[in-house]
Amino acid sequence: MKVLRISAQDTYEIRQQMLRQGRPIEEVHFPKDDDDQTFHLGAFIEGKLVSVASFYFENHPDLPDEYQYRLRGMATLADHQHIGLSSALLRMAFPIIKQNLCSLLWCNARTSAMGFYQKVGFEKVGEEFEIPTIGPHVLMFKKII
Ligand SMILES: CC(C)(COP(=O)(O)OP(=O)(O)OC[C@H]1O[C@@H](n2cnc3c(N)ncnc32)[C@H](O)[C@@H]1OP(=O)(O)O)[C@@H](O)C(=O)NCCC(=O)NCCS
Repeated sequence: MKVLRISAQDTYEIRQQMLRQGRPIEEVHFPKDDDDQTFHLGAFIEGKLVSVASFYFENHPDLPDEYQYRLRGMATLADHQHIGLSSALLRMAFPIIKQNLCSLLWCNARTSAMGFYQKVGFEKVGEEFEIPTIGPHVLMFKKII
């Protein structure tokens, strides 16, 4: 397994398959995908991209840290889940976020994935909320120290 930096475009297929199935392709183009401070990571197995995650320099209004990153589009193809790929992407991301002088990573986590985020050290804040057409979510964060 290899973790590499990838482009926004590289993430679209897995995003659509795992996060926006049956939805228009435009929905997997996220705002700020191509910003300078944004980075995308991918895990490859035998040369095939099987897991992706994207990181944006973006603050959440309810979180106090001055400089924060946001995690979006975290997904591993179904037949490669539970073997540590998303965790490996996060381990690669933490030092990059720290190098960019940010002290916190947050995400709107699907409630179905909360267990994953808790395992990798995220904490939940506030109440569950609904994102239309996608489902129930919770705000979660992890301090990057
Ligand atoms: C959530 C997701 C990204 C995790 O990816 P993954 O590559 O399977 O994650 P890992 O293998 O690194 O998992 C790390 C740990 O979390 C556990 N875990 C993974 N998914 C979990 C889940 N949905 N609930 C509870 N625990 C979970 C793993 O078993 C592993 O535990 P271990 O360390 O005891 O072995 C993946 O299941 C996925 O793509 N889901 C569909 C898309 C999605 O919901 N993305 C999140 C959007 S907010």
